Order: sequence, then C-alpha cells, then structure tokens
Amino acid sequence: MMHPDPGSDQRLFMPAVARNREPILAVLRDRLPPNGLVLEVASGSGEHAAYFSKMMPSVRWQPTEQNPEMLPSILAHRISAAAPNMLPPLHLDVMSPTWPVERADAVVCINMIHIAPWPAADALLAGASRVLPTGGVLYLYGPYRIDGGHTAESNREFDGWLRRQNSAWGVRDLDEVADLAARHGLVLTQTIAMPANNLSVIFHRTTA
Ligand SMILES: C[S@@+](CC[C@H](N)C(=O)[O-])C[C@H]1O[C@@H](n2cnc3c(N)ncnc32)[C@H](O)[C@@H]1O
Repeated sequence: MMHPDPGSDQRLFMPAVARNREPILAVLRDRLPPNGLVLEVASGSGEHAAYFSKMMPSVRWQPTEQNPEMLPSILAHRISAAAPNMLPPLHLDVMSPTWPVERADAVVCINMIHIAPWPAADALLAGASRVLPTGGVLYLYGPYRIDGGHTAESNREFDGWLRRQNSAWGVRDLDEVADLAARHGLVLTQTIAMPANNLSVIFHRTTA
C-alpha cells in the first residue's frame, strides 16, 4: 500500500492519494473558508496536507495523526512542500476527550471512518462539533453505503476486505453517519460523487 520515496527521505506515499487529491481539492476550494485554520484529522502520510497547503496558500493547514509512526512522514512532506501555511503535525487520536486544537474553521477527514471502529466515527463527529464555530464545515471523504446497500461491487468487496482485517471496521452507511452527526449538531448539507465510488460529504455546524 505504501512505499518510501526512493530518495530515501522519510516521506511515505499512498497510491490512492495521487488519484484522489485533485478531485478532493476541486471540492475543498469552494467550501473551505479562504483564510481559516483547517484541522485535518488522520493525515496519514501527510501528502494531502502538503498538496492542499501548496494549492490553497491562504488557508492554514494543521495536519494531525493518531499513529506516531506517521509523524516523520508528515514532517518530511512539510519540508518538501515548503508551504509556510502547513503547520507542524500534532498527535491527535479522535478517541481522546481533549484534542490538541481547540478551535478550527473547518475539519477535514479523508478515508478514516471505515478503517476505524464505529466509536471513532462518533468521536470524530463529537470532536468536530466541539472545535467548529456555528456554520463551520466538516468534510469527510470515503466510500459509503446508501440506504443500507453498497453503491458498487468494488465497495462491497472492499467492505468484506475491511471486515476481515478487523471485524469492527467497514464501509459506513451514510444515513447512520448523518444521524449521528445530527446528534452532535452537524447537519449534512451536501454529498458529491467522487471517482472510484467514493463520496465527498459536507456537514455544517448548527448553532449549539
Ligand atoms: C486509510 S488511512 C488514511 C490516511 C489519509 N487520510 C489518506 O487519505 O491517505 C486511515 C488513517 O486513519 C487513522 N486513524 C485510525 N484511527 C484513528 C483515530 N482513533 N484517531 C485519529 N486517526 C485515526 C490512521 O492512523 C490512518 O492514518
């Protein structure tokens, strides 16, 4: 899945990022506040953070990761991108009751909630609700089931693969995510079909 750059620095590269970063950027450009602080949860290798920071120089991008082993890669991508608006990565496990960032204008989380237990989705939504102002955007990206069913055979196979890795993982149902989000004061405002049967899912923070 991941391979170190042959240049032998600490950057890791995930093949999916090269495929999805441009379509995701096209969605984010119109929806992120132009001068805001964007909190990215589950930054992984740091490639998205570096690319989005470079392509959207007026936002401040805060990458975070739960897995400490990924932090050197995020740092290395930050150095390589030389984007002054990309902040040094912070350790953030969504399950922690306190997050290292108390306020953000938007929260972005790409490809996490299906590859973590369901309580992590709840914790992500609770945390996003805590840090966002009224009207703030939560952006999720990944595969979803719609009305309980898979939208493509490839997603059904991926779901089976996920559940074989960990029985608590799996492609989530969009209605269930939206219901949970609503309980945390986040209203689903838009879904956008993305390549490879993924969705961009936009929530807005309602008044507390
Ligand atoms: C498939 S990777 C996606 C990484 C990156 N967003 C991307 O699209 O390349 C899933 C990520 O979710 C993170 N993750 C899993 N459980 C988490 C948790 N409890 N809190 C924060 N991140 C978590 C993992 O560490 C991993 O980086």
